[in-house]
Amino acid sequence: MRLTPDEQAMLDGRDGAAVQRAMDLLMRYGDALGAERLIDTRNVCGTISATTPFMRQFAARKGGMDAVFSEFNLDSDDVVEIPKAKVYSSHLQLGFDPHEPERMGLDEQTVQFYRQGEGYIAGHGVQLANTCTPYQVGNVPTRGEHCAWMESSAVVYCNSVLGARTNTEGRESTGAAMLTGKIPYWGFHVEANRRGTHLIELDLDLESTFDWGLLGYWVGDRVQEKVPVIHAGSGLTHVPNLQRLKHFGAAASSSGGVELYHLVGVTPEANTLEQAFGRKEPMQVLRYGAAERRATWEKLNATAESSAIDYVMLGCPHYSIEQIWEVTQLLEGRKVHPGCEVWIFTPRAIKALADRNGYTKIIEDAGARLMTDSCSAMSRAVPKGTRVAAFDSAKQAHYLPAILGVQAWFGTTAQCIDAACAGRWLGALE
Ligand code: F3S
Repeated sequence: MRLTPDEQAMLDGRDGAAVQRAMDLLMRYGDALGAERLIDTRNVCGTISATTPFMRQFAARKGGMDAVFSEFNLDSDDVVEIPKAKVYSSHLQLGFDPHEPERMGLDEQTVQFYRQGEGYIAGHGVQLANTCTPYQVGNVPTRGEHCAWMESSAVVYCNSVLGARTNTEGRESTGAAMLTGKIPYWGFHVEANRRGTHLIELDLDLESTFDWGLLGYWVGDRVQEKVPVIHAGSGLTHVPNLQRLKHFGAAASSSGGVELYHLVGVTPEANTLEQAFGRKEPMQVLRYGAAERRATWEKLNATAESSAIDYVMLGCPHYSIEQIWEVTQLLEGRKVHPGCEVWIFTPRAIKALADRNGYTKIIEDAGARLMTDSCSAMSRAVPKGTRVAAFDSAKQAHYLPAILGVQAWFGTTAQCIDAACAGRWLGALE
């Protein structure tokens, strides 16, 4: 890779050992990718925490969080002192919710270590957003801004809805980017790679978050890591909002590896079909109608055998305040069935708003919990004895049966709340 004089000075050690290691890692990473140079970034979303037992033991053995950062973010065999982040950086979700030690099966020592880790993260100038949806809590890059983000559902939102530019980075490259403000210039940073590859013609009018999740799951499965362009021939009757596009992208990046899509007339690089494809012809034209919708719903519910529900998880990706408000509309005055638990995940900043609005109280009065920082898939935590779970998220319905072996029902938020209150899944495809 070609380096600027400033980048070369960082690689030569001008800014200390940690920055030198970070530049060395970015050089090796960029060479492996075939990148010719680095690009400046002022917006990084990554993880530097140590919430798994393995990392906690590593930190205890090797001398704390600098050792964790050196090994797992910088790929450095020797422990170097880590300076503060050079550019605006926020922390993604973590391994559990420290406010719910019992539910998450945490001992006091683990919670204490988590607190120390939070001190380390904040002390290094990294925002404690603790969410897979940084764009919901103040990290909203602008169109064309070069970013270095991890977390597939955040990456696809960043690229597609915001029109900012990132590849799906890892713990190592985001750690190196935090210290240098650099990331390899390749993939979706490059204008020419951002044009559509597959045309998806909609034969259905979509309205609900549930329907956008189903479409995303089908699209990801069909196009894998390519760039789908979604087009409604007669126009969209309902323009999808943040939560619908959040669920669409998360689903498409779960069943496939979609990192960028265009929705004609809605997302910023697709005012028209022509703009979405540039001068290229689509590699394939696919149609999505009632039969595809039903087949996708059946696929997502393929593991569900028993209708006796033990657990309802909402908030994948982390719920918006609008979704929490919707849940309170569905839950107020009702009670969760004694044989069932409901955990709802949201960023901590949004929970603070829910607390002030009285939503948390409505949720708790009904017997559900509003939780933060993590989710069942990340923490590998579900209520004890859970065999059958229900989700309004295609992403969580995709992952949790594979991770924890539970049976999964996928339905609307209202169907999930009805199931929680009845203790039985009653939903059908509407
Ligand atoms: Fe977020 Fe967990 Fe879903 S981290 S996107 S809630 S799998």
